[in-house]
Amino acid sequence: MNVLVIGSGGREHAICWSLRRSPRLGKLYCIPGNAGIAEIAECPSVKDDPVSLAKFAESEKIGLTIIGPELPLCQGLADLFRARGMRVFGPDAAAARLEGSKSFAKSFMQRHGIPTARAEVFNSMPEAEHHLREVFGRGEKGAVIKADGLAAGKGVIVAQSLDEALDGLKQCFSGAFGDAGKLVLIEELLIGEEASILALTDAKTIIPLASSQDHKRAFDGDKGPNTGGMGAYSPAPLVTPDMMEKIDRTILQAFLRGLRSDKLDYRGIIYAGVMINGDDVKVLEFNVRFGDPETQSVLMRLDSDFLDAASRTADGNLHGTELRWSPESAVCVVMASGGYPSSYEKGFEISGLKDLAAEGDATVFHAGTSLKDRKLVNSGGRVLGVCARGLTIRTAAENAYRAVEKISWKGSFYRRDIAAKAIL
Ligand code: AMP
Ligand code: GLY
Repeated sequence: MNVLVIGSGGREHAICWSLRRSPRLGKLYCIPGNAGIAEIAECPSVKDDPVSLAKFAESEKIGLTIIGPELPLCQGLADLFRARGMRVFGPDAAAARLEGSKSFAKSFMQRHGIPTARAEVFNSMPEAEHHLREVFGRGEKGAVIKADGLAAGKGVIVAQSLDEALDGLKQCFSGAFGDAGKLVLIEELLIGEEASILALTDAKTIIPLASSQDHKRAFDGDKGPNTGGMGAYSPAPLVTPDMMEKIDRTILQAFLRGLRSDKLDYRGIIYAGVMINGDDVKVLEFNVRFGDPETQSVLMRLDSDFLDAASRTADGNLHGTELRWSPESAVCVVMASGGYPSSYEKGFEISGLKDLAAEGDATVFHAGTSLKDRKLVNSGGRVLGVCARGLTIRTAAENAYRAVEKISWKGSFYRRDIAAKAIL
């Protein structure tokens, strides 16, 4: 089967890598892809508007299209492909609102009894400010301000004081996040530890993948600004078998019932970011696509045929699918450009990858790389996800860091404590 993957990040590289292991794979294309993906898939230069992509898929007899990022899903790329009779992995636009609109996601959770933080929605500064003053007036220790729409991961302000919270509100209503901030959620501040729960669903069946955890802050010790994710590991020991059973019962099964009763066409992956506090678990957010870099560490452990599972999801035929997981752990360390997540310089040659390939002890997923004068250079904020497996999280982390230490470019940096929380 010929497969098309849409996207250009580490997540898409990991998806392509996983697909490559399937004996059923014919030609593999990724649009736009990146320099690393181009080593294992064709990355043709096709305009990335929906109609050009659909025409490409038709002309290349693509049997399955996997849409990586949230933006094309929210813009209806899956709808267009399906309307033209093609098989797609990824929810339609109506269902993608679970990520595209935080107020939609919140009301979905409330209607279907999915545990989540309390929240109120506002469309004007004075009312929102009034509410915030009340919240802090009754002694709450913080609040979370969320722009309703997609804001490239920037629209959430976790405020520990009224001033910080008011500042967050002003950012939203002053247009710092564009239209995404026209509606604002003010949410109860949850405490605990976060984990990422990914699950395949076709709206009839839901199958959780192995658990994982990412590291959102830029620097060691969870300090510094929020990023897209500086590293991940799987499994997350925090998600014990009992906790996974509770997540399945209270979140995933309720989610499935919600999809059915709202008649949402959901064939793809659902990502629930959860906050765990003792026995308690609540959903912080839904994403309608694979997490990045969680996917890199999760797919490294998948022993089943990913192409088979993705096709069955797209066909609405997931029932009866069994996923087999390696008992080994996997750790992914993200290497980023100096200055990320603020501004950074691009175009520096990356060294060390060839030596690594010879030793074969780690898998490097590219996120922001390109070729310049036939040299591999950094071209994004998050540049590489260096992943390795090991019998324990500790050995997986040691294997990943051994590889990381061989790779560098001018200004490159990475966190030195990925998975440290999980190493007992
Ligand atoms: P979201 O995009 O909703 O996942 O928010 C991004 C990050 O903000 C999450 O990964 C959490 O670290 C934090 N966050 C979101 N909602 C809350 C909440 N209600 N309480 C505490 N932290 C939160
Ligand atoms: N790693 C967080 C995300 O993919 O949204």
